[in-house]
Amino acid sequence: MATKRVVSTRINGRPVEFLCEPRQTLLEVLRESLDMIGTKEGCSNGNCGACTVLVEGKAVDSCLVLAMEVEGVDVETIEGVATPEGLHPLQQAFLQEAALQCGICTPGLIMSAKALLIQNPDPTEEEIRFALAGNLCRCTGYDKIVRAVQSAAKMTGDAATN
Ligand code: FES
Ligand code: FES
Repeated sequence: MATKRVVSTRINGRPVEFLCEPRQTLLEVLRESLDMIGTKEGCSNGNCGACTVLVEGKAVDSCLVLAMEVEGVDVETIEGVATPEGLHPLQQAFLQEAALQCGICTPGLIMSAKALLIQNPDPTEEEIRFALAGNLCRCTGYDKIVRAVQSAAKMTGDAATN
């Protein structure tokens, strides 16, 4: 067995240390070592986006990232999106717009949408569809998801201007 390494990182704003083998992915470590099962596993090969997390604010497929690669960087998972004050506008909007059914794709979609809104707080429909193109959903048909992201962008924009 390969020698395990200690990785020091920050997940959802908190310092975290974990042991991993060099071949282990970030997805495996999140789910199996850190019990953070909000990040979903779909394809395990970078096609479905279910495992999307943010690394330094950018959306990545955690099944394609080695756990060792997150040494010293900021990782955000779906567990860090809501605050003690309540759900994030994206989470509220997904509920209000009924943008989920089985929910397997939802954490990844919310993370991809969050990365988009960090970069572009007022995206067009085309920009939203482009940003979410790597996230597959087998249930909703996408229109409700796009409406939810538009609604969250509006909520966020309204909050910023009020
Ligand atoms: S599980 Fe990572 S992209 Fe599908
Ligand atoms: S809600 Fe089921 S895959 Fe998207």
